[in-house]
Amino acid sequence: DKCLKGVKALVDEGIKKIPDAYVLPVHHRPCHSEIFFDSLPLIDMTDAQGERRPQFIEAIADACEKWGFFQVINHGVSPSMIQRMVDAAKEFFNLPLEEKMAYASDDVAKTRRTGATRVGTSFNPSKETTLQWRDHLRHPCTPCPDVIDNWPDNPTCYRQAALDYSVAIKQLAEQLLAGLSESLGLYDGSLIEKFYQHDQQLAVNYYPPCPNPDLAVGLCSHSDPGGITILFQDDVGGLQVLHEDRWIAVQPSADCLIINVGDQMEILTNGRYKSVEHRAVLNSERPRMSIISSYNPSRHTKISPIKHLVDEHHHPALYREISYADYLQYFYSKSLDGKSCIHYVK
Ligand code: SIN
Ligand code: FE2
Repeated sequence: DKCLKGVKALVDEGIKKIPDAYVLPVHHRPCHSEIFFDSLPLIDMTDAQGERRPQFIEAIADACEKWGFFQVINHGVSPSMIQRMVDAAKEFFNLPLEEKMAYASDDVAKTRRTGATRVGTSFNPSKETTLQWRDHLRHPCTPCPDVIDNWPDNPTCYRQAALDYSVAIKQLAEQLLAGLSESLGLYDGSLIEKFYQHDQQLAVNYYPPCPNPDLAVGLCSHSDPGGITILFQDDVGGLQVLHEDRWIAVQPSADCLIINVGDQMEILTNGRYKSVEHRAVLNSERPRMSIISSYNPSRHTKISPIKHLVDEHHHPALYREISYADYLQYFYSKSLDGKSCIHYVK
């Protein structure tokens, strides 16, 4: 099927108009919503150490309750490390189609289940009524170093760039997790232990310029299924976050990484920290890349609201217990549609 070669292939062939398969129903088009410009809460990771730690803890608690999203500066992932990751990923997407297709698979859950690398397009093409204007590369980063043999070896710089990047991201994820735990008063390790055995994944989204950016979407509204997500978007911009029923366009900033709470964190915190819907919109001028790192419980971990955050009278458990593997199975069984997965465990 032509569509499964992805959208970069369509653009490289020189199409002047998007195929009908990508045209969204009118009321689903992002241009249909009013877009606001606002900045996400900004948190300085240097405050995580030393005398400003109380303010740091308060700031992440506030951001996770009100936004489910925040940006971090001084996060320890150096600009050159990010640049090498971006350059390697860009080189990968510029490889001849046949070479990338060696990683293609219809099995959308493949990387999560088998540790393989997967190249895909849209989100879950066999379940979708409208396709999304996005190609992507995804692979696990744990257990390290075993999985590295499955990563692309062309371009030759890819593995080293992705390894350095994902090691730095892991350190940041662990600092954030410790902060989240403290911010919830969980000094017994009951949050952190859910991530003792973790599953870290890396996904690169590639959105080629779209001839009709108002008719299609890069990635439709969804919440992330995992624990926490650490996102880098390049200078093109396109990420939008739903906040108080309004779509907020997140302006790119080279120094910032964007952090968001995933569905597993919402369940563990019994809804106190919100896994918030977001989407990626398109433009007709420049290709855009985003690099998504998710830091998740391992697949066999059982997830349910943490006992300390539940009390019968004021905070009854909002979610039932589910293993992360079962959650993902549901997530990958359908199209990407807002927060429907978390409703499934209510
Ligand atoms: C995502 O949510 O996975 C991607 C968002 C983006 O490309 O900015
Ligand atoms: Fe996402």
